[in-house]
Amino acid sequence: MVKIGNIELGKFPLLLAPMEDVSDPPFRAVCKEHGADLMYTEFISSEGLIRDAIKSRQKLDIFEYERPVGIQIFGGDEEAMALSARIVDATNPDLLDINFGCPVKKVVCKGAGAGVLKDIDLMVRLTKAVVDNTKLPVTVKTRLGWDDDSKNIEEVAERLQDVGIKALTIHGRTRSQMYKGDADWTLISKVRNNPRIQIPIFGNGDIDSPEKALEYRNRYGVDGIMIGRAAIGYPWIFREIKHYFATGEILPPPTIEERIDACRKHLHGSIKWKGEKLGILEMRRHYSNYLKGLSHIKDYRTKLVSTDQLSELESVLDQILENYIVEA
Ligand SMILES: Cc1cc2nc3c(=O)[nH]c(=O)nc-3n(C[C@H](O)[C@H](O)[C@H](O)COP(=O)(O)O)c2cc1C
Repeated sequence: MVKIGNIELGKFPLLLAPMEDVSDPPFRAVCKEHGADLMYTEFISSEGLIRDAIKSRQKLDIFEYERPVGIQIFGGDEEAMALSARIVDATNPDLLDINFGCPVKKVVCKGAGAGVLKDIDLMVRLTKAVVDNTKLPVTVKTRLGWDDDSKNIEEVAERLQDVGIKALTIHGRTRSQMYKGDADWTLISKVRNNPRIQIPIFGNGDIDSPEKALEYRNRYGVDGIMIGRAAIGYPWIFREIKHYFATGEILPPPTIEERIDACRKHLHGSIKWKGEKLGILEMRRHYSNYLKGLSHIKDYRTKLVSTDQLSELESVLDQILENYIVEA
């Protein structure tokens, strides 16, 4: 049984990755329904939280049916991180995650995200500031290191464990790699097999099929797997992996009804949480993924991303359903 603090996550948990502008409550609802064992919010700026920025505050919204759920924060200033830990604490998620992995320039430049990978002492101080200011279990998500010449994840893991984190997720790339090249899990495995390491180590990077999940679980011995991009528009990835682990069989892909159903649910959740205008607008980035692989889908997709009327969206989704059921 894998545990983070007192949270029991089963034998081999599948985690939904935090993804900015993606991992919001409507998306998380769909992933939860299809088997994600632990989910995270998209990252939230500690500076934004303490300034009471509306956008940052809104990202703190979590719902009972999502549990266990973690709120992820980032920042490069100890005081801001300590204060935001208290704010997060008050919203009562199951855990608090710190992002030390974001490679995006606007974050790194402020000494946050993956920028901290260049300064382990600072990383340790920031983590301690968070641990000391929350009663929640604190977890960390990070990368292998800053670049090829400074892959310091083994030291990072030991030192963060020593200041009290309860789990570590490692994305098998360096900051310099951004998202290029293949994720390298060999160092993740080394951290996992370090006898000093007692906390769960979750592997992350490029898992996009049940076969790959099984291969990586067996080869690298991690305690669980975090999945990001492969879940966008394809929340079935979680149940497919679980089924494959349990039976060795590949589930048939979701039917067109299931796809449209999940897409509709996501759309309605989006509208409910963000309001009609924004909900419809921000849903646009998801259609191509929900419809991936369907032949002659371009015209429907174009309609979906160009209308701002819910009734029209519903009608296009109905048409897809009708036409593709006939085709099948
Ligand atoms: C659109 C997008 C947004 C992301 N935002 C975050 C974030 O807010 N916090 C974080 O820790 N990682 C973020 N990531 C990184 C993912 O959590 C994950 O580490 C990465 O995508 C690799 O996993 P994958 O190959 O399964 O996608 C983001 C990735 C993507 C594609």
